[in-house]
Amino acid sequence: MPISIKKLSGADAADYRDLRLDGLSKNPEAFGASFEDESPLSVDDFAQRLEGGAVFGARLDGETALVGAVGLRIPVASKTKHKGAIWGMYVRSDMRGKGIGAALIRHVLDYAKPLVEEVTIIVGASNIAAHKLYIKMGFEQYGFERRALKVGQTYYDEVLMSVVLNPPTEQ
Ligand SMILES: CC(C)(COP(=O)(O)OP(=O)(O)OC[C@H]1O[C@@H](n2cnc3c(N)ncnc32)[C@H](O)[C@@H]1OP(=O)(O)O)[C@@H](O)C(=O)NCCC(=O)NCCS
Repeated sequence: MPISIKKLSGADAADYRDLRLDGLSKNPEAFGASFEDESPLSVDDFAQRLEGGAVFGARLDGETALVGAVGLRIPVASKTKHKGAIWGMYVRSDMRGKGIGAALIRHVLDYAKPLVEEVTIIVGASNIAAHKLYIKMGFEQYGFERRALKVGQTYYDEVLMSVVLNPPTEQ
């Protein structure tokens, strides 16, 4: 499937807001953030987020709507800046199973490789599709958090995963 992936800027904010709110409303268990917290945010709020961070969006060639996106957070603190964290991974439901998720992860790992030693991701313990995707892309489980999220009265456990991009230089 011909898609293009690029780092999003403020100009993509309206399209990104649409995609993000679609994900938060349809798959609340997949995200730490919630639809209730983010739906009041304006396009300008999303533009600031995109300008201040690293979010990558996928589009079908020739189309404007985003079909998927993923974010990468790299801490500025000197003791933690060797590890990036992937967040907000999402592919629209009608576009799943076509390789877009894998392409987004590949893209964000290529971007991260010159910047960090390792990349982490948190995935819902019952999210088989995402778990298999990350295993396929080289991630390994290193932890498990019970009752990490509470959506309504339902608790969700989460699996902590990481992939080493540049082996640590221990002395
Ligand atoms: C998880 C998600 C991003 C996968 O995106 P996708 O574009 O469908 O994934 P791909 O088509 O690139 O699949 C790549 C690999 O992931 C795994 N995978 C994807 N969907 C799967 C499914 N339904 N069941 C089992 N494995 C699956 C497979 O290993 C697949 O490789 P294969 O096709 O060679 O078998 C997508 O399902 C999604 O957005 N889900 C809702 C939000 C979410 O869970 N986000 C992750 C938060 S951590």
